[in-house]
Amino acid sequence: MLKAILLLGIATGVLGVPTSSHPEHNTHHELNVKISVANGLLKSPTDGRLVLMFAPNDTDPLEDTDVTSSPNYIFGKNVFDVSTKKAIDLSGGSNFSTETGVYGWPNVSLNDVPSGNYSVQAFLTRYEKVRRSDGSVVNVRFPCGDGAPNVNGFGSLTTDVAEYEVLGGQQTLTLVFNNLTAIEPLNGKEIGGCNQGNYEDTELLKYVKIRSKKLSAFWGRDIHRHALPGNLLTRPHWPADSGAFDYPSDTKFADAWNSGTIPATNTTAARPAPKMILVTFRHEAPYYDDSYAVNTANLGPYGDAINDELISHIEKLFHTIRAPYARVQEGGSTGGWESIANVIYRPDLFGVCFSSYPDSLDFHRHQDIELYTSANAYQRTDGSFVPSIRTHRNGTEVILASVAQENHWELTFGTASRSFNQWDIWNAIFGVQGYNNYPLEPWDKVTGEIYPEAVELWKPFDLSNYITSNWEGSRNLGAALAGRIYIYVGTWDDYYLNEGVQEFAKRTDAVGGAGWANVTILPEKSHGGNYQDRKIWDYLELVDGWIKDHAPDGTSPLSLSAVAPSTRGNQWKEVIQRGGRQAAVARQALPAIKAKAVHKGAEVQASVGRWDPGVTLEAMWAINGKPSGKPFAVKQGATVKYAPGKKGKLQLLVTGSKRNYATETRHSGEVLVY
Ligand SMILES: *[C@@H]1O[C@H](CO)[C@@H](O)[C@H](O)[C@H]1NC(C)=O
Ligand SMILES: *[C@@H]1O[C@H](CO)[C@@H](O)[C@H](O)[C@H]1NC(C)=O
Ligand SMILES: *[C@@H]1O[C@H](CO)[C@@H](O)[C@H](O)[C@H]1NC(C)=O
Ligand SMILES: *[C@@H]1O[C@H](CO)[C@@H](O)[C@H](O)[C@H]1NC(C)=O
Ligand SMILES: *[C@@H]1O[C@H](CO)[C@@H](O)[C@H](O)[C@H]1NC(C)=O
Ligand SMILES: *[C@@H]1O[C@H](CO)[C@@H](O)[C@H](O)[C@H]1NC(C)=O
Ligand SMILES: *[C@@H]1O[C@H](CO)[C@@H](O)[C@H](O)[C@H]1NC(C)=O
Ligand SMILES: *[C@@H]1O[C@H](CO)[C@@H](O)[C@H](O)[C@H]1NC(C)=O
Repeated sequence: MLKAILLLGIATGVLGVPTSSHPEHNTHHELNVKISVANGLLKSPTDGRLVLMFAPNDTDPLEDTDVTSSPNYIFGKNVFDVSTKKAIDLSGGSNFSTETGVYGWPNVSLNDVPSGNYSVQAFLTRYEKVRRSDGSVVNVRFPCGDGAPNVNGFGSLTTDVAEYEVLGGQQTLTLVFNNLTAIEPLNGKEIGGCNQGNYEDTELLKYVKIRSKKLSAFWGRDIHRHALPGNLLTRPHWPADSGAFDYPSDTKFADAWNSGTIPATNTTAARPAPKMILVTFRHEAPYYDDSYAVNTANLGPYGDAINDELISHIEKLFHTIRAPYARVQEGGSTGGWESIANVIYRPDLFGVCFSSYPDSLDFHRHQDIELYTSANAYQRTDGSFVPSIRTHRNGTEVILASVAQENHWELTFGTASRSFNQWDIWNAIFGVQGYNNYPLEPWDKVTGEIYPEAVELWKPFDLSNYITSNWEGSRNLGAALAGRIYIYVGTWDDYYLNEGVQEFAKRTDAVGGAGWANVTILPEKSHGGNYQDRKIWDYLELVDGWIKDHAPDGTSPLSLSAVAPSTRGNQWKEVIQRGGRQAAVARQALPAIKAKAVHKGAEVQASVGRWDPGVTLEAMWAINGKPSGKPFAVKQGATVKYAPGKKGKLQLLVTGSKRNYATETRHSGEVLVY
């Protein structure tokens, strides 16, 4: 989705859940795929995510892998220790074991690929094992200046495209990983790639790079941040009616800018350009091409890296006004969320946001999901599916994908929120770390069952909840942020983001009075365009006007209390204490028998301990280390009772299992039965 842009004032003045008719425990595997690794391709064995695609014959499987239109059958599997000596076997497919078995889209099992002729290709995304500074260990891919694609990213192993006929019976296809994905030379000027380099400066565009001390400390490796300020001062005239304010995106911008295509110089429009520089940030991260520009327990202190490290560096290089009123946040979609979140968390740093069609501002509606009150993220109580993507054709709403379809499609590209796709990055940003070190997901990605306890932990990123719960007190946001929040969305937003905006407006209005936040909802507008659907020229003048009005000599200067350091939120220390490894460990508890000793035949009670949401439990009593009775299923939070029929040392053993978690048995302390 679109990036946020920071404007700095210059000093001079189809619905359905895929099901498989061949679950994995069915040993009748018809279609098998064997993939080996060519000699010399890998220096050492690797872990990773294998993605196998079946596309229409004579087509490039990568041409269309989208959830809304994909003609492909896509299968994924986590693989470990892959080397020349060890071929990968794929067969079957199941929705129960997405982290170890084959999982496919739109059908779970390989056995569901209809007979016919296909272009077949496989990819292996390589993971690196990283120990973060909070002690958590994850296997992730670090993107390489390549836009963090969900498949075929830089350094992936690839096979040739093979044309195969699937016969519909017992059959084995063979493929060979024989190449690595190279980074595409973008415009010949790129120094970048995995070393996180930059483009060459041009007359109008300066590229800035720093090594972030905070991010490098968190990830235990060098992490660089980039910014691409475009110096508007040197362009004399802006077109009156150029299109969307969709720049600078990471790569192609420099050429477009220099060739005059963005924006086309229009001398007839002859109006002086507002004096400001535009800054966009490149902040690709493990989990996504964009860190959401805030501090999070799963991605690290990206907010601090951008706001404290990079912006202060930029302000040393350029002659900008170093005051909140002259720092304006703007953006659409992901950038819409980033721009508003940064003003809300950092009233001490930024003056105002113009946030367009932002990602969900209030989790009463996460897109169209009623996250706080529904039992299931995919299906409503009336049986209908929760939609995710829509468009309007001739005024009629057409649903292109459901939340279930998108999440299942994401699962083929990665488990444990590692697909580099939209729902997974939300899990990583809004969620804390799970006890398995990966994002604590708010619902079961296969079934959609919502875990209220995990959702509760999202609340610091529910922006209306954050504002209303810090309305007064030390942050005093009701007063500090008044007049500084501008939001725009259309009623036909493709991702239902208007709903979160409406919830945000409702809840902030309830405490601040109608219009506390300036919210514009334009009828029949879809996802895209500038703030309030303005022409770029009008938009920049609006921003310029806001800066002038809120300057110390303006009509309504920002007060010192509105920008006081005490207004600051999303502090890294709090974020990692609340959501990092130690917090995940502290959430756990062992089973415990509620007695010091017990008579033979008398009843004891025990708790099953505390586990992460979604862990299913099986308990068993043991006396003197030997099973005493059969294992039985038990719910989290339950109290179990038992009357031991034998003397000895009594224990309760509870085994917890969850997808992407190591299955673990926890023992209560021993209680003497006499
Ligand atoms: C998982 O697979 C089973 C067996 O094929 C099927 O009955 C069930 O509906 C599937 N569940 C989901 C959520 O796809
Ligand atoms: C490939 O697909 C095209 C279009 O569907 C079809 O006309 C053609 O016969 C196919 N070729 C093979 C070898 O299956
Ligand atoms: C495979 O998925 C397609 C598209 O969702 C569906 O129409 C078809 O019935 C599925 N086939 C099987 C065997 O599940
Ligand atoms: C697949 O292609 C072969 C020719 O390569 C052709 O004989 C066969 O009919 C095709 N199968 C289908 C299902 O189109
Ligand atoms: C390997 O892939 C690159 C593109 O990433 C391509 O240019 C090259 O020709 C491929 N080499 C082989 C042997 O297929
Ligand atoms: C240039 O600006 C004028 C005046 O606003 C407008 O009428 C004209 O369409 C613009 N031309 C281009 C190429 O943008
Ligand atoms: C919209 O309606 C017009 C006239 O009825 C029709 O020609 C056109 O194909 C329709 N467009 C879409 C996208 O359905
Ligand atoms: C909201 O802001 C826009 C842009 O500055 C302005 O045109 C509009 O009047 C404002 N709405 C209210 C209710 O203040």
